Amino acid sequence: MTTPNPQQPGATLRTVGWSPAVAQLTAQRTAGQQAAFLLPYLKPGTRLLDCGCGPGTITIGLAEAVAPGEVVGIDIGAPQIEVARANAAQKGTPNVRFQVGDILKLPFEDNSFDVAYANNVIMYFGDSPDQALKEMRRVLRPGGLIGIRNPGGGYVLNPEGGPVQQANAILTNVWNHTGQVLPGSGRKAKAYLRRAGFVRCEGFADCEFYGSPEAIQKMAETEAVRVRGYTRAVELGLTDEATLERLAQEILEWGKDADAFWSRICCSAIGWKEG
Ligand SMILES: C[S@@+](CC[C@H](N)C(=O)[O-])C[C@H]1O[C@@H](n2cnc3c(N)ncnc32)[C@H](O)[C@@H]1O
Repeated sequence: MTTPNPQQPGATLRTVGWSPAVAQLTAQRTAGQQAAFLLPYLKPGTRLLDCGCGPGTITIGLAEAVAPGEVVGIDIGAPQIEVARANAAQKGTPNVRFQVGDILKLPFEDNSFDVAYANNVIMYFGDSPDQALKEMRRVLRPGGLIGIRNPGGGYVLNPEGGPVQQANAILTNVWNHTGQVLPGSGRKAKAYLRRAGFVRCEGFADCEFYGSPEAIQKMAETEAVRVRGYTRAVELGLTDEATLERLAQEILEWGKDADAFWSRICCSAIGWKEG
C-alpha cells in the first residue's frame, strides 16, 4: 500500500499495513536475529543510523552493541516512532533516540554516521532502491559501513500449501502487478550495494522462523490482519473479499495448530563507502 504520509506532507509511506498485530509481531525482532551479519563490525562508540526502524526493538539492541555510541532510528510512520520511544524508555537504553524521517531524504548532514542499517525496508522500493541507498551513502562518513537485509523469497511452512502459502501467493501477485515491492529482493542485496557505489561488498543469508505456540499464534494474528488488508488484490481482480476473509479465518485456525511452523530465508549484504 502506498499512501501520503500525514505526518510528513510530500513524503511517501510505503507499507504492507501497520496495525497493533503487525507491531506486536515486528516488536519480537531483535538485533541478535535480524542483524547478526552486522554485529561483528560494531564496537563501542560507533554512531549508527537505523532506517525504517519500525517499533525499534532491533535499534535498541544495536544501541546496546555500540554503547556509549549514539544510535538514531528513523521511520516515516509517526506511530512506529511513538512505539519505538516507549520501547526504549521501558528498556532504559540511554544512547538511542528516534525521529520521524524519510529514507529518501534523510534529515542528517553528510558524513555523519559510522554505520547505516535497514532491515526489511529497501524492498519497498521495488527494483529501484537507488535513492534510498544514495541517501544512506551520503550520511555515512568515508570508510563507513552499510548493512541491509530483506526476505529472499523462499518460505518453508507447515503445512505446505496451506492458507499462509495461498495468502503469500496473492500478495506476490499484487507486487508483481504493481512493481512496488520486488518479491525476494533480498537476493539482490549485494548487487544493489555495488550498484550504489559501495565497495568490498559481501552477502549473507539467515532463516527467520516462528515455531513456538506463542510465536505462531502472533504470526497468525498478524497474517490475518494483513490478508484482510489486501484490498489492492481485490481492486486488481486477483481475488475477492470472501476469499480473503476465508483465508484470514483459516490462518487464525492454523495459528492454533501445535504442528504449525513458519520460516523464510532472508538475505543481507554489507559494503563500505570508499575513503
Ligand atoms: C517491515 S517494517 C520493518 C521495521 C524494522 N526495520 C524491523 O525490521 O522490524 C518497514 C518499515 O519501514 C518504514 N518505511 C517505509 N517507507 C519508509 C520511508 N520512505 N522512510 C522511512 N521509513 C519507511 C515503515 O513505516 C515500516 O516501519
